[in-house]
This record gives sequence, C-alpha cells and structure tokens, in this order.
Amino acid sequence: MASDAARTIVIDKLAKGFDDNQVLQSVSLSIPQGESTVLIGPSASGKSVLLKCLVGLMQIDGGSMRYGDLELSGLSTAEWSAFQGRIGMLFQQNALFDSLKIWENVAFRLTHHEGVPRREARDRAVSRMASVGLGEEMADLYPVELSGGMQKRVGVARAMIGNPELLILDDPTAGLDPILTNTILSLIDRETSGKGTTVLVVTGDMKAARSRFDNVAMLFDGEIKWSGKRDDVPDAGDPFLEQMINGRAQGPIKMRLAARG
Ligand SMILES: Nc1ncnc2c1ncn2[C@@H]1O[C@H](COP(=O)(O)OP(=O)(O)O)[C@@H](O)[C@H]1O
Ligand SMILES: [Mg+2]
Repeated sequence: MASDAARTIVIDKLAKGFDDNQVLQSVSLSIPQGESTVLIGPSASGKSVLLKCLVGLMQIDGGSMRYGDLELSGLSTAEWSAFQGRIGMLFQQNALFDSLKIWENVAFRLTHHEGVPRREARDRAVSRMASVGLGEEMADLYPVELSGGMQKRVGVARAMIGNPELLILDDPTAGLDPILTNTILSLIDRETSGKGTTVLVVTGDMKAARSRFDNVAMLFDGEIKWSGKRDDVPDAGDPFLEQMINGRAQGPIKMRLAARG
C-alpha cells in the first residue's frame, strides 16, 4: 500500500566521524514503515551514533536520511524539534531529566509537545508506567531514587507514551533480568505491531535479535554489512552476520584488544 511506504526511512551513504575516527563511512539502509527492525553490531561500531544522527542530535557529515517525503538532513532546528515531537526515543543511558519526577519524565512528550493538561498527563503516565511494571508509588520520586533497571523502564515508558509513529529504542533491555526483558519486548511488540508504528531497536541481546523483530540490520566497519528479513538470517551466508548473531569469538570480526606492555 502506498500509505504503508509513505513513512519508510531511507538512509543513503550516511557519513559521520569524530576527528580521525570515521565511525559511519557509508551507511545505507531502508527501515520499512509499520515494521520492526533491529540494528546489531559490535561495541563501538556506531549503533548509538546512527540513532542520534537519525533523530537530529548529531550533525551528519554527508549522505542523506529521508523519512517519507521529508529530507531530514536539511531540517532547521525548529523543524528538527517538531520531528522529535512525533517520535519516541530511548537513549542508551536513559537520559532522564534529573529535576523532573518520574511521571513528569514519562509524560514529557504529552505535556511539552501535545499540550495535554497535567492531571490527564499524570494519569496516562501512571498507566504507562504500570505496563512496564512500575507502580504508582514511583510516580512522584526522582530518577536518582530508582535503580538502573527501573530507570531503563522509565525510559521505555517515556518513549512509548502516546503511541508515537516512530519508536527508536537504544538497548531497551540492557541490565534487565530475563523476565523483565521478555515483558518489555512483548510490550513493544503488542503495542506496535499491526498499528503502522515503525520500530527501530538496538540490542546486544542476540536471542532477541534472532527472534523478536521483522528485520535485521548489521552494522560493522562503518557500513551495513547485511540487512534483510529475520527469516532470511539463518541462510544469509554472511560471515559478519553469522559471527555476530551467534556470538562467536572466531570470524571476520576481530576483537580489538589493546596490547599490553
Ligand atoms: N560525542 C562523541 N564524540 C566523539 N566520539 C564519539 C562520540 N559519540 C560516540 N563516539 C565514538 O563513536 C564510536 C561509536 O560509538 P557508539 O555509537 O556509541 O557505539 P555503539 O555501537 O556501541 O553504540 C566510538 O568509537 C565512540 O567512541
Ligand atoms: Mg551504543
């Protein structure tokens, strides 16, 4: 359907580096609307940098990023802000607002982008918190009073509130136990699949990457080495993907350990 393709993300030859560290050399990737895509790759391959470029928190050096008809790389600051109001994002380090209560963090997009009154926003935040296993007694606490795993869940709740059309989650289950991990992954699936929501998730959990998302993309050496449907992963025959998804020590991806002495 034309409408389904309308908000596909098309990243083309994206480049981003820092001084002499060319993190993203030429990243090309399509992220279909209404589907979930998981981005995998070794540590420091640039997964988080790619997400930050995509949401306008890092300026790109070259290439293009389109969201449907919208060319993102040409947006003004005001246009980026409007775009960010339409998406839900979880950062790897959660990036909660220290000075805001938990419910105010969770309700942030409602109160700051959608003009929802505080009382209604609080109710919706509390019900969103319940879906990630956080009780109402947490609502008036501050982030510093929560454990790392609780903060992560606050971040997930904040990203998902209001059912954004584009949901971008950087390591949503890092540091969570297996039960919470499954709860969060099932929640993401339940609330987004079949609803037209585009989901992009980074994870280091290869079991989840193999089984939980429609599409898989593998980033290494500044490029997408492989991307495709989850069902095609086992027969992909790509040595980088193979090694990563099976967590093998041996393969084309060499561990870069600094030599001692
Ligand atoms: N703000 C920054 N300034 C300089 N270098 C950065 C910055 N952010 C990330 N990097 C570098 O970019 C590379 C990729 O980082 P990152 O995207 O966080 O990797 P990961 O794939 O683990 O998410 C790393 O070498 C990191 O040091
Ligand atoms: Mg990262």
